[in-house]
Amino acid sequence: MHPPVGPAWLVALELSGLGDAMRRSAWMYPIVEIFHIVGFVILVGAAVMFDLRVLGFGRGLSVTALARHLLPWSWAGLALVVPAGLMMFTAHATEFVTNPAFQLKLALLATAAANVAFFHLGPYRKVRAWDDAGDAPGTARAAAALSIGVWIAVIICGRLIAYF
Ligand code: HEM
Repeated sequence: MHPPVGPAWLVALELSGLGDAMRRSAWMYPIVEIFHIVGFVILVGAAVMFDLRVLGFGRGLSVTALARHLLPWSWAGLALVVPAGLMMFTAHATEFVTNPAFQLKLALLATAAANVAFFHLGPYRKVRAWDDAGDAPGTARAAAALSIGVWIAVIICGRLIAYF
């Protein structure tokens, strides 16, 4: 393996014991990637099911009851996907940061986080008005549609990392 080139902190991360183990072990990287995949299936699955309700599907279901059920699962998914992603990142840190698919993925993750903050601090504060039967306000539906689009784009970028 050629010596990693890049910012000192990324080189140190890549040459760390964890980075080395993730590269040397035949099974560690694939097993960690499986945790990453299971994590985002739960995270993105929960997010998209909630977004579809905000968009008007499943009208009989209370939005707040669905949120109470799905939000803990999205946190559980995040608790799997982020550590696993960071572990994989250590294996080739200096390469991943120059990978356009990885860069776009991180930008999309920041967009997803900002969108979640906007939704919860904005239209969701008045959810009682549209909890059961009413139409969600346009801002809530826009946030839900953006969320679905961004999560699909994150998955596409994640898959394309290996091809750049
Ligand atoms: C939170 C939402 C996330 C989603 C939905 C997501 C999605 C994905 C997907 C779909 C893949 C491709 C899996 C495969 O084809 O086997 C992937 C790979 C990867 N992800 Fe994530 N990811 C997320 C977060 C992160 C984070 C926070 C990091 C770390 C900085 C990260 C780092 C990576 C790395 C390094 C790969 C491996 C690329 C490879 O070896 O091909 N991911 N991710």
